[in-house]
Amino acid sequence: MNDQVKVLVGAQWGDEGKGRAVDVLAKDADVVVRFQGGANAGHTVIAGGKKHVFHILPSGMLYPGRTCVIGNGLVIDPDELEKEIAELDPKPEAIGVKLLISYAAHIVMPYHKKMDALAEAARGEGAIGTTGRGIGPCYVDKYNRAGIRAEDLVSPRTLEKKLRTVIDEKNPILEKVYGAPALNFEELYELAARWGRFIGPYLGDSSLEIDSAISSGKRILFEGAQGTLLDIDHGTYPFVTSSSCVSGGASVGGALGPGRFGRVIGVVKAYCTRVGEGPFPTEDFGEAGKRLRESGAEFGATTGRPRRCGWLDLVALNYAVKVNGMDTIALTKLDVLSGIGALKVCCAYELDGKEHTAFPSSATILMDAKPLYREMPSWDEDISRCRKFQDLPKEARDYVRFIEESTSVRVGMIGVGPGREDTILLDI
Ligand code: GDP
Ligand code: IMO
Ligand code: MG
Repeated sequence: MNDQVKVLVGAQWGDEGKGRAVDVLAKDADVVVRFQGGANAGHTVIAGGKKHVFHILPSGMLYPGRTCVIGNGLVIDPDELEKEIAELDPKPEAIGVKLLISYAAHIVMPYHKKMDALAEAARGEGAIGTTGRGIGPCYVDKYNRAGIRAEDLVSPRTLEKKLRTVIDEKNPILEKVYGAPALNFEELYELAARWGRFIGPYLGDSSLEIDSAISSGKRILFEGAQGTLLDIDHGTYPFVTSSSCVSGGASVGGALGPGRFGRVIGVVKAYCTRVGEGPFPTEDFGEAGKRLRESGAEFGATTGRPRRCGWLDLVALNYAVKVNGMDTIALTKLDVLSGIGALKVCCAYELDGKEHTAFPSSATILMDAKPLYREMPSWDEDISRCRKFQDLPKEARDYVRFIEESTSVRVGMIGVGPGREDTILLDI
């Protein structure tokens, strides 16, 4: 297997523990590249007893000497980024970490956040439950060729021209459709110019950087945000985010041809969670769901919202395996299942009275899917100190093996706690 270039993606609805898995993998990587999303992401790393939550920065920023890339596929909120960099401890310059921001990444403007909130309010009952970070409206502008790119922040003439066009287009919508206040050119221009002074020194060509790193034998790790079932094409549309969270997204948003990718790692939580609206067949509204939320501390790393909780869904996971070409699973939060009692795994759906094992990504169909569960023996032991697969209780080992057999994908790493060292490493 080509281990020089690895891609890591979320295999479920986000918050699978990508941050902690990247943290484990970054030990053996020279370059870590985020390739999509923005400050809607919240990737937690707990190292040396300290908690770090990454929103826009790659989760490799804590390792000395690494190059971290914010790829062209991202939408950057510069205020958030500035805050994130300021809060970093240790400081990147103190540990020789280089940050590179693709000149082609898009900028989340204040009006994108405003539009996000207004659109959500207008959706009423059909709201998506977005993170309110302006993600959808920013990607809309990107694909409408009306976006402000990182490079524009340091190019006063282009910035002025683009902002004037934006204002002409958006003010009638804000005022007439939403009854909201109009945008002011001077305010926006000043803000964007200030952002340019901050972002300018980090700007560069990520594709050249990655290409030359590969040529000199360096190891690259692509870090996905959100998850397969939140992908704009392959997720439970319209209850999705607005970018390509699957492994293919790494090629476009990370600027590297698909032939050069090696291992594809899917991060899989030992159960399922979802934040926001949309179908979630294995959601548990009873005691088990409550227990998973409490033991797993399932509250959003970005918005603090309680996460909806339920059982592992192998129908959805097998879909994620195919869509991503996943060859390795990083299984997280196995420790949370200790003492859960009756452990359930969804192996098929019932739809129209028939059994289905193929995942219908259509939200309309999925709303009616009834999960068919297999009950498995659980375990009561605290497994957080286990460091070898053999240390796990038999029932926990059987659960892992069952996931491998059901997906035909090897589990390469198991998380038994949130800390860097709470990891069973197999082959990743
Ligand atoms: P991400 O968005 O995929 O990076 O995941 P989040 O950081 O939003 O959410 C994962 C949460 O689970 C964080 O609070 C992590 O510290 C925590 N976590 C990750 N892996 C494990 C694990 O193996 N066991 C436990 N108990 N917590 C974990
Ligand atoms: P990480 O990277 C979980 C969800 C939101 C909402 C939908 C659209 O930490 O796993 P958006 O603001 O993107 O337009 O919201 O997607 N969502 C996430 N859920 N983890 C995330 O990121 C998410 N990013 C967005 O809750 O349902
Ligand atoms: Mg998260």
